[in-house]
Amino acid sequence: MSDYLAQARELDKQDNLSKMRESFHIPKQKNGEDQLYFAGHSLGLMPKKAQDYIDEELDAWKRLGVEGHFHAKHPWLPYHENITKSFAHLVGGKESEVVAMNTLTVNLHLMLVSFYRPSKNKFKILIENNTFPSDKYAVDSQARFHGYDPKDAIIELQPKSGEITVEPDSILEQIEKNADSLALIMLGNCNYLSGQRFDFEKIVKLAHSKNILVGFNLAHGAGNLHLKLHDWNVDFAVWCSYKYLNSGPGGLAGAFVHQNHHGKKDIPRFEGWWGHDKNSRFKMGPNFEPIATVEAWQLSNPPIFQLASLRASMELFDQAGMENLRERGDRLTNFFEAQLKERVGEFCKVISPASSRGSMLCIRYAKNPKDLYQKLTERGAIVDFREPDILRMTPAPLYNSFEDISKLVTLIEEITHG
Ligand SMILES: Cc1ncc(COP(=O)(O)O)c(C=O)c1O
Repeated sequence: MSDYLAQARELDKQDNLSKMRESFHIPKQKNGEDQLYFAGHSLGLMPKKAQDYIDEELDAWKRLGVEGHFHAKHPWLPYHENITKSFAHLVGGKESEVVAMNTLTVNLHLMLVSFYRPSKNKFKILIENNTFPSDKYAVDSQARFHGYDPKDAIIELQPKSGEITVEPDSILEQIEKNADSLALIMLGNCNYLSGQRFDFEKIVKLAHSKNILVGFNLAHGAGNLHLKLHDWNVDFAVWCSYKYLNSGPGGLAGAFVHQNHHGKKDIPRFEGWWGHDKNSRFKMGPNFEPIATVEAWQLSNPPIFQLASLRASMELFDQAGMENLRERGDRLTNFFEAQLKERVGEFCKVISPASSRGSMLCIRYAKNPKDLYQKLTERGAIVDFREPDILRMTPAPLYNSFEDISKLVTLIEEITHG
């Protein structure tokens, strides 16, 4: 055994959270060994309990039919409420501020309907550079919906030339510079391509002082960062649950609306019966009476099987605690970066800034990045590649180990140095 591997195993032994890995199914390589799975930023692994929880609801459906809404062990009518407390802990919100509903881009549109309210002078939306395409399509189409040409209404953060990440001070300067015309700031946090985390609190503080609302897409933040959305006065946030939250492909998304915006009569909102006051929903009246919380933004009765797998994963987050997971995540990523530096050297440049990132490491590879990606895949390491030269690799603190990292770096070292 190499010294590197021995050191990694020792670190695993010392870490209290290492045992969480046992709660997940780790996909196997052809030779029967665990895959080196570093794609939790894309699709998280399956909690072992997910199957039991979904089976439980299939069984309730089999036995009870429609009566499962009331008489299943976990009745379906309020099933989404099983997630509320966990989501509140996860993102630092009040229980009245978080809900599991729909999918991510749907929730983003619902939030933009409510929080992008352009006026004659203030009609612009500030987004990241390198926006995830769906986010760009969403803001562009919302601008068009309000009669604006996206070329005029959407502005992107400007990094220094040739760079992907944006200097924190420069973000604040760019907000100041555009303050008179900005209606909304909508940032992915962390950025999906660079892994850069933006400073929620500073951005919101400055934006609010300029009468600008702020929303975050936490596709790469929820389950990855230690968040305090309520205290930071974030206006809204949305996230998916199939990445860091391990709810399975196409899993349900989350939404946060700060309580400052609850119960406001003048807020535009697209509405459906699941957002109607629960006490009178089944009176089937023609007029919408909103629930007094973020649940007013719900449209439809939610998919129970997807909620069941999400419940299995959220129990593990509750058990570990997000703050602890973030600390372990930092230990893993810092170890990963140090190992790359020592063993692969100048060929790997980590672009996710050490002082402001979560668990995803985005790496520029100086040789042939596509070739590295293909060779890693052939040898049982699952990472991902984004054109032109970025590899994204995430040691997820719930199930990745120091040993995984050491073995992955060994593969990168071998492929690089031939
Ligand atoms: C930053 C970001 N925004 C939006 C999406 C789109 O998500 P969905 O297909 O769940 O709407 C993704 C998915 O990877 C993402 O990473």
